[in-house]
Amino acid sequence: MQEKLKAIATGARTDISMAKSQEELKKIQVKYLGKKGEITAVLRGMGQLSPEERPLIGSLANKIRDELEALFAERELQLRKEEQQRRIAAEKVDITLPGRPQELGHLHPLTTVMDEIAEIFLGMGFTIADGPEVETDYYNFEALNIPKDHPARDMQDSFYFNPEMLLRTHTSPVQVHTMEKLAPQVPVRIIAPGKVYRRDDDATHSPMFHQVEGLVIDYNVSLADLKGTLLLFARQMFGSHQQVRLRPSFFPFTEPSAEVDISCVMCHGKGCKVCKDTGWIEILGSGMVHPRVLEMSGYDPELYTGYAFGMGVERIAMLKYGVDDLRLFFQNDIRMLRQFR
Ligand code: DAH
Repeated sequence: MQEKLKAIATGARTDISMAKSQEELKKIQVKYLGKKGEITAVLRGMGQLSPEERPLIGSLANKIRDELEALFAERELQLRKEEQQRRIAAEKVDITLPGRPQELGHLHPLTTVMDEIAEIFLGMGFTIADGPEVETDYYNFEALNIPKDHPARDMQDSFYFNPEMLLRTHTSPVQVHTMEKLAPQVPVRIIAPGKVYRRDDDATHSPMFHQVEGLVIDYNVSLADLKGTLLLFARQMFGSHQQVRLRPSFFPFTEPSAEVDISCVMCHGKGCKVCKDTGWIEILGSGMVHPRVLEMSGYDPELYTGYAFGMGVERIAMLKYGVDDLRLFFQNDIRMLRQFR
């Protein structure tokens, strides 16, 4: 009996040391120590032994079981470590590989230009005002001296929600909101940058575009103040060589009205394709605030005068960066936008 036990133990030790995986080891454990295992069988058969033999065999069997259990635990740990090493080796992490850079975003060129315009006017003492993009007919037209049947409405067809509500076609309604809020305080000196909407879509017109409105009201404000301010703006935006010229024009909300040109940014006034050989480029509309407009919004036109202007941000950006198709700003082609990093 003792011999048999010892033989089982020897066999078990060899099996344990030869086990190649945790799975295999588990099977060997069952084979020897499981419910129907060889050692277990011996312990079960103890009843048939003589009383003298029983304690001897019993303690030997227990000793062997303890030893084998320890061996199993040890081999199990060893196999687990080997398995881990194998997995790490197989992963082949190349720690010399450079990391993936996080690409930093940047401002859209139109935002940059709008910020730049704002910066220049803030430097001259203007503050920033804003108004809603969904406007009423009153603010977008009526209060700007554009009655229902006025032909000036034809150039500013918009997107209507109902006959009284529309997407604003220009930033000029912010003039009205500002005057209503401040009247009769002076001075009023604001710019209003923002999105505007029209039923237009071609290489130089987009259904959504940006404007910066300007409004100044005070005692004795004159056309000379308007021209001086815009000359300063043009020189800071496009260079100190800049000239501006005012051309008579018409807007229902200003009297007199003027289109403002700057000397051509491409040829500096010599004449080229961009300025159609005139040497000048139109950048904005402006004028002296119409007395009716002042009056409707709470300023006495006998006491105060004011000037106003409105410029297209896309147009300024196209001139500044030499972009010849407005749609490029809105197609979101990353190759185009990256140039403005
Ligand atoms: N609101 C005009 C437009 O979108 C531009 C404009 C012209 C604004 C003259 C003004 C102004 O403030 O005085 O065409």
